[in-house]
Amino acid sequence: MLNMSLTTPFAVYVHWPFCLSKCPYCDFNSHVRHGGIDEARFLRAYETEIAATAARVPDRTVSSIFFGGGTPSLMQPSSVQAILDCIGKHWTIAPDVEITLEANPTSVEATRFRGFRAAGVNRVSLGVQALDDASLKELGRLHTAQEALDAVAVARSIFDRYSFDLIYARPRQTLDGWEAELKRAIAEAAEHLSLYQLTIEPDTPFFGLHRAGKLTVPDQDLARDLYDLTQTICTDAGLPAYEISNHARPGAQCRHNLVYWRGHDYAGIGPGAHGRLTIDNARIATETEKRPEAWLMRVEETGTGLTVEEKLTSGEAADEYLLMGLRLAEGIDLARYSALSGRNLNPRRVSILRNEGAVETTADGRLRVTQSGFPLLDAVVADLAA
Ligand SMILES: C[S@@+](CC[C@H](N)C(=O)[O-])C[C@H]1O[C@@H](n2cnc3c(N)ncnc32)[C@H](O)[C@@H]1O
Ligand code: SF4
Repeated sequence: MLNMSLTTPFAVYVHWPFCLSKCPYCDFNSHVRHGGIDEARFLRAYETEIAATAARVPDRTVSSIFFGGGTPSLMQPSSVQAILDCIGKHWTIAPDVEITLEANPTSVEATRFRGFRAAGVNRVSLGVQALDDASLKELGRLHTAQEALDAVAVARSIFDRYSFDLIYARPRQTLDGWEAELKRAIAEAAEHLSLYQLTIEPDTPFFGLHRAGKLTVPDQDLARDLYDLTQTICTDAGLPAYEISNHARPGAQCRHNLVYWRGHDYAGIGPGAHGRLTIDNARIATETEKRPEAWLMRVEETGTGLTVEEKLTSGEAADEYLLMGLRLAEGIDLARYSALSGRNLNPRRVSILRNEGAVETTADGRLRVTQSGFPLLDAVVADLAA
């Protein structure tokens, strides 16, 4: 079982579910409210839910906080400040806490960066997505490439730590085009980049267009080549992948996301937020109401937005560790897997995957997916899971 010492990472995720418009590829819990929202009322609900969560797991030291969305850069800096104050009132905050806020790179939002910094945010993650205006338009983004680069420059002038996201394997993307775009991005990057392959998610406009043959994305072979090219360029630039889609200079990994992938505890606050809490040696999965106004009313009526609170079986907790941990270049600790599941990974399946070159055991006994195994990660995990 997990050891809850003061040095064990503990993360708080705060979900802000509103966006100015809905991007046609996105299936995150994000909503557009043309009539505006009552931010003060939402803020009170966040504070209520933080208090309720802290009452359940009081003795933790918060090592990271992440404002995700949706578009949390649409929040007032004073709301971000109030949420951080509330977290600090209910838990101890580690002196070196990482506090990230996801921001969309429009000029309007960049003007708030100083306010977020003053509130305590010390890292921003910008959704640049592409550095070419035609692609940005097709992706339904509200910013141009230049605006995004300007926002990156503002972030650089205010925050010691920033990252930005790009989506690749986009319609009509070529290897040469992506190479030029990625190199240009790396010139603007500091310590961290998130590079996601476009996924056609069910129930999105892109899904309908794709099925109707009106949106063509790179086939499997080209997608694989784009992935390989990404790894080569980033590794050469000193930004190797530490997770399947995340690249960082040594020591500059996103500590918050490492909490998820390393299987530590995190509290999920806000509409549709997920959490994992260890209580009395049991790992509890939590989930809140997704619809923002329904979440608000639930919190106001009951003190929490929880809709799911479920004790994971040892098999479920172990499979989750496998699923999350194998995304990391460092892989998983086999002893931890065995402690969680009460049994070892099937040696025959490990050996088959090792012979195929999909996994390897490190000198210190960890199991990790190889560079060539990463594009087949889902199949590898399915093979190894209980
Ligand atoms: C919570 S989302 C968005 C954050 C912010 N609202 C924005 O759009 O800039 C985090 C990231 O997931 C990625 N993403 C979202 N949907 C995706 C999809 N269908 N395929 C690949 N990446 C996706 C985008 O790079 C995005 O920046
Ligand atoms: S990609 Fe970001 S801005 Fe676009 S709808 Fe999703 S969360 Fe909102």
